[in-house]
Amino acid sequence: MKVTHLRVVHLREPLGFQMEQPVFSWVVSDTVSQKQEKAQLAVFRGEQCVYDTGPAEVLDSLGTELPIRLLPRTRYAWRVRVWGDEGDVGESEWSFFETGKRDEAWQGRWIRGEGTENGILEKTFSLSEEPGKARVYVSGLGLYRLFVNGRAASDEVLTPGLNAYDRWVQVQTFDLGPLLRKGENRLEIWLGGGISRGRFSFTPADGYTYCPYDCAVAELRVETAAGEYVVATDESWTWRSSPILESSIYNGEKWDWGAPVKRGKALFCQPPTGPLRDRLSPPVRIVEERKPRALLRTPRGERVLDLGQNMTGWLRFPVSGPRGTVLKLSYGEHLEDGCFSRENLRTAEAAFTWVCDGEARIAEPFFTWYGFRYVLLEGFPEEIRAEDFTGCVVSSDLEESGRIETGHPGLNRLLENVRWSQRGNFLDVPTDCPQRDEREGWTGDAQVFADTACFQMDCAAFYTKYAADMLEEQEKARGCVPYVVPFARHSFEGGAVGWADAATVIPWTLWLHYGDKSLLRRMLPNMRAWVEWVASQEDWPSVCRHFGDWLALDRPEGSTERVGRTDVPFLCLCYAFYSASLTAKAAAVLGERETEARCRRLAEEYRKKLQNDWFSVRGDVLCRTQTACVLALHLGLAPDEERLRRTLGELVRASGHLTTGFLGTPWLLEELPDELALELLLREEYPSWLYEVRLGATTVWERWNSLTEDGRFSETGMNSLNHYAYGSVAAWVYRRLCGIAPEETAPGFRLFTWSPLPDPRIGSARCRLKTPLGEIVSEWEYSEQEIRLRLSVPFGSEALVRLPDGRRERRGAGEYRYRLPGPEASDETGEEEAE
Ligand code: BGC
Repeated sequence: MKVTHLRVVHLREPLGFQMEQPVFSWVVSDTVSQKQEKAQLAVFRGEQCVYDTGPAEVLDSLGTELPIRLLPRTRYAWRVRVWGDEGDVGESEWSFFETGKRDEAWQGRWIRGEGTENGILEKTFSLSEEPGKARVYVSGLGLYRLFVNGRAASDEVLTPGLNAYDRWVQVQTFDLGPLLRKGENRLEIWLGGGISRGRFSFTPADGYTYCPYDCAVAELRVETAAGEYVVATDESWTWRSSPILESSIYNGEKWDWGAPVKRGKALFCQPPTGPLRDRLSPPVRIVEERKPRALLRTPRGERVLDLGQNMTGWLRFPVSGPRGTVLKLSYGEHLEDGCFSRENLRTAEAAFTWVCDGEARIAEPFFTWYGFRYVLLEGFPEEIRAEDFTGCVVSSDLEESGRIETGHPGLNRLLENVRWSQRGNFLDVPTDCPQRDEREGWTGDAQVFADTACFQMDCAAFYTKYAADMLEEQEKARGCVPYVVPFARHSFEGGAVGWADAATVIPWTLWLHYGDKSLLRRMLPNMRAWVEWVASQEDWPSVCRHFGDWLALDRPEGSTERVGRTDVPFLCLCYAFYSASLTAKAAAVLGERETEARCRRLAEEYRKKLQNDWFSVRGDVLCRTQTACVLALHLGLAPDEERLRRTLGELVRASGHLTTGFLGTPWLLEELPDELALELLLREEYPSWLYEVRLGATTVWERWNSLTEDGRFSETGMNSLNHYAYGSVAAWVYRRLCGIAPEETAPGFRLFTWSPLPDPRIGSARCRLKTPLGEIVSEWEYSEQEIRLRLSVPFGSEALVRLPDGRRERRGAGEYRYRLPGPEASDETGEEEAE
């Protein structure tokens, strides 16, 4: 038996992450046993055991919270032993976690330079002994990078993360042991505006400032034979101006190493922000480096690099031009008529300018990012080559969980595009898009994509941070949820149906995928606050601006209206019901009886009102749109389900395609008969998912027609080529085509339904899904003679098998193979082999 994947608060060996109490999880594999009989978890501080559960039946591998009084800045080691139901035993290796400063007072104080922008804070100090354990606790606003003796303190970028700084500022803990040395050492903290001093909103006038100047705080603690040595930010630090002359997330950066350098003594400051707290954000890193596919010469004579993939990040390249040479890169997503185009970025300049100083250097931006596939080069010498440039793919560094490979190349590319859109938009915040003057944590987009996101990557820690920020915003708005989180705008706007409901949907999605009660407990306040806000409104539909079934195609011909035709009051009742029901279920799991009862009552009221106001006595829906049908069916709100299903089928057939927007699309295929669902999934004409694949998309588009058949933007006012909302269809591919659906009665894949959908048009499907219990493998291969299926159920999990021939069975951990006769098979009976 192997016991691996040890995690604390869903992170691997976390250093300085926020936790009330540690929550432990692990995965068991390579065993004859099917289930855990009992487990024993022991936690040590140095030689001292601080907690030993003893062999206990209650320890949950999906999340065991132990009541340990954690000390600040302390390393804990832990291991777990597991007994299987067949009597075998396994023990993990040692793993560790280390606390940050927690509530401890700071010796370091906030400091800044004299200018407000992009300075570098610096400190030289000497260690008289060899350094032992060395940790720095550090943060900076807007964004910072710490260098130690000229080398980066960490491979993380965009620190300290993007969040509601008015409420809290995240602290990073880095191990500086390998970078420090006996004798003289030097710290440098480079600063840029990020979202703190720069605008983070599509309306320039809304640009909210968390802090009007850049500043940093740090505390370095080094253990040496002669005792602890502390270097903290104070007035002994100095500052100098930076080669980064301009930096903003939308416009990009301008660097000039030749610019005159100003220097001075650092000043104490008190930024108007929230308190420092240990971090929640998983690291953002360069997760992949790729070489451009080509250096093109466009019909307009432009030199343009093609990365071959729409991505988020930037280019890195060597420079050595003569002093004063200006190199400029402009980032864009698309070539129109073969020429560089960045019209769809609106006011975002998305540029990088470099003034050469005659030295050989490596150029890359520090405090911005771009969403791009193409880069226009200006000012570069003739002889440059594509290989001189490196595309740095930047993303929150999350573990991949699912992968699907089918026999259908177009579908494979679509799934790949969804993955790229998640990568490109999971940049500490789940953003709508990475390129134009927005890049914000739009709650609706995040909500509709959450299920897909969890199938593709381990998102537990990522969404924990998002939910924490959301709760901070909710506390400012009496429970209401703003359009975007963090909300860096002046006057509050929020409460949009299907957007604000991110407060309930995301926690519940995490519960389904990860089965860790501590996450649900942490997020119940988000859920409850939102449900209560809705309940307190006389007329929710009219008190806020709603986005409706955003970008649906059912609006009248020629209309530029974006909210679709599904009535907002209808959507409000559906989502009020949905959020109240999810909150009731979450409260039930957590034993919060009062909340459960209240939310059930509210849900029941919304159901009655919806059925009263929006269905005829015969059971016909009065709002006749695909999305209205999909929502009512999915939420079990139809008074006559059969009838509503018929209506949905009729509506799809009448238009000949989907017409759904952001709210209807995620559940559309699930509510259609399989045959029709597959037809829509595999359709290549506009509008469909494969239309964009056929037109060469490498990420998911914002609109069904972001590009028209001739390859031109359908409009440039709001049109991103990297917007994951419609990528929510990938969840259906996991749930139905590959057949793996978590069951809410035993979440975290303790129980899942396996109901794969073998189909001749797709030929085969192979899905590997790393669940928190281990890997589920689902495979099928279709031929006219025979359909072969394979399922692998991990330790601790059970599958409700639903075969296409109607067979149903319940299976524990193990490998199962089935053979069913194809339509042209000679013998009729399917056989089964179990391993
Ligand atoms: C964003 C969307 C977002 C929407 C709200 C857009 O500008 O890009 O994805 O959800 O506004 O209507």
